[in-house]
Amino acid sequence: IKGKIIMGRQLSLFEDINRIGATSLAEFRDKLADSNCTKCILSESRARIVVSRGSPDANIMVVGRDPGSVEEKTGRPFTGPAGLCFDRLFDKVGIVTNQDMYISNTFRCRPPNNKLPSSVNVVLHCMKQCKNYLMEEIDLLKPSLIVALGKEAFANLYDKFPYQSTTTKVGDWVGNLYPSDLSKYGILFLYHPAYIVRNENALSPIFVRHIVKHIDVIEKSLGRGLVIK
Ligand code: URA
Repeated sequence: IKGKIIMGRQLSLFEDINRIGATSLAEFRDKLADSNCTKCILSESRARIVVSRGSPDANIMVVGRDPGSVEEKTGRPFTGPAGLCFDRLFDKVGIVTNQDMYISNTFRCRPPNNKLPSSVNVVLHCMKQCKNYLMEEIDLLKPSLIVALGKEAFANLYDKFPYQSTTTKVGDWVGNLYPSDLSKYGILFLYHPAYIVRNENALSPIFVRHIVKHIDVIEKSLGRGLVIK
């Protein structure tokens, strides 16, 4: 059975039947938030489906990991402690996250105690179910640059990343831009802000350095220059 061609990509029938079928990001957000999705085990303990925040006109899409307790209350990604750090890190280069970015997550439901299931196969199953939503969001937004925060977001979007290997070192991959047919400039892999929160003084200069390394594609995506503070 043939899939549809969207943005030059062939969607499988599997992906097709899991689509929300929205024609705008606002419709997508409302419908997914109200969908009562039960496609994976994370749905069993969640209080609320957390979809997105930021600008539906942005050219930069950010993909995080999963909502925490604050996000579950506000219904918006990155509104808790990691979110404050995330806003602060991008402010250091003159990016206003809600205006300049569209912000989404790999998983839309908060895992119990903020810990993903211990079985990697269960994690990958949940990721695959939720990926259908992410693909629909990418099709609606058509970002020119996707920023993956942390290894789950990166593994979800870049299938050459050996997520399941115990010898994989995030440090060998992070800070680089990877080609992808999901966006014009590809996928920029950055450290997750929750990791930075734990050691901000040492890690935030590295995060900023990784952004500055790709200043050309970020500025082209923003349509303006960055101001490094
Ligand atoms: N961390 C994430 O990855 N996403 C959120 O929404 C909040 C914290």
